[in-house]
Amino acid sequence: MRQHVNPLSQFFQLPLSLPSKTTFFQEPNYPIHIDIGSAKGEFLIELALRNPDWNFLGLEIREPLVALSEKKRKKLELYNLKFLFCNVNISLEKWLSELDNNQLKRVSIQFPDPWFKRKHFKRRVLQRDLVNLIAQYLSEDGELFIQTDIFKLIEYMSEIIDNNTYFERKIIDGSKWLAKNPYDIISDRESFVLRQNLRIYRAMYVRNRILFINK
Ligand SMILES: C[S@@+](CC[C@H](N)C(=O)[O-])C[C@H]1O[C@@H](n2cnc3c(N)ncnc32)[C@H](O)[C@@H]1O
Repeated sequence: MRQHVNPLSQFFQLPLSLPSKTTFFQEPNYPIHIDIGSAKGEFLIELALRNPDWNFLGLEIREPLVALSEKKRKKLELYNLKFLFCNVNISLEKWLSELDNNQLKRVSIQFPDPWFKRKHFKRRVLQRDLVNLIAQYLSEDGELFIQTDIFKLIEYMSEIIDNNTYFERKIIDGSKWLAKNPYDIISDRESFVLRQNLRIYRAMYVRNRILFINK
C-alpha cells in the first residue's frame, strides 16, 4: 500500500459529497469526535467501544485504509462509528455544515504526515483554513488535540492554532505539552513511536467563546 498520497494532486482536489450523519449513526444527535487521518482505525474503534453515547468519525485520504477500518467496524457492529474516504481539506466543510449546533465536540489530528521539505508544507493536512473551519463548527469548550514526535511539525501546527482567534491552549500542571494521550487510548503511530522511546509532543486546544465571524 502506498505510504503517502499527494493531497494536492488533481484527483484528491475533487470535492466528494460525504453521506449525511443520519445514514450511518444509529443516534445521529450524539456528540461527535472526528479523527483526521484515521489510518487503520484502531484508535477510534477502541474509543467507540468504550463510549457508546458518543459518535466517532474517522476521515482518511487513503481509500484502502478506509475499507480496512470499515471492515473491522462492521464486524464489531459498531453504529456509533464511521470511516469515510476524503481529503479533509476539500470535503469536510459541507458535512460539518449539516451538524446540529454544538454537536462537534472533539477533533484529533495525530501524527499527521510531516512533509519535511518547505516546498511541500502546503501538503500538510493542518492548514490555516482547516483550523478556521474547525473553529467555525466546534462547540464552545470543544477540543482540538494534536500530537506528533516531530518537533518542527508540532511547532508549525501549534503556531497556526496559537494565531487563531478562536482557540486557547490548555496548560496542564504548568506545561503546554500533555504527558499522555488525553483519551486514554494510543493511536497506531503513537504506539510505534513509544516503542522507539521517542519524545511525543501533544497539545490540547479549547474552543473559546468568541463567536465565529465568516470573513
Ligand atoms: C502518519 S499517519 C497517522 C495515522 C494515525 N492518526 C495514527 O496516529 O496512527 C497520517 C494519516 O493521515 C492521512 N492523511 C494525510 N492527509 C490527509 C488529508 N488531507 N485528508 C485525510 N487524511 C489525510 C494519511 O493518509 C495517513 O493515514
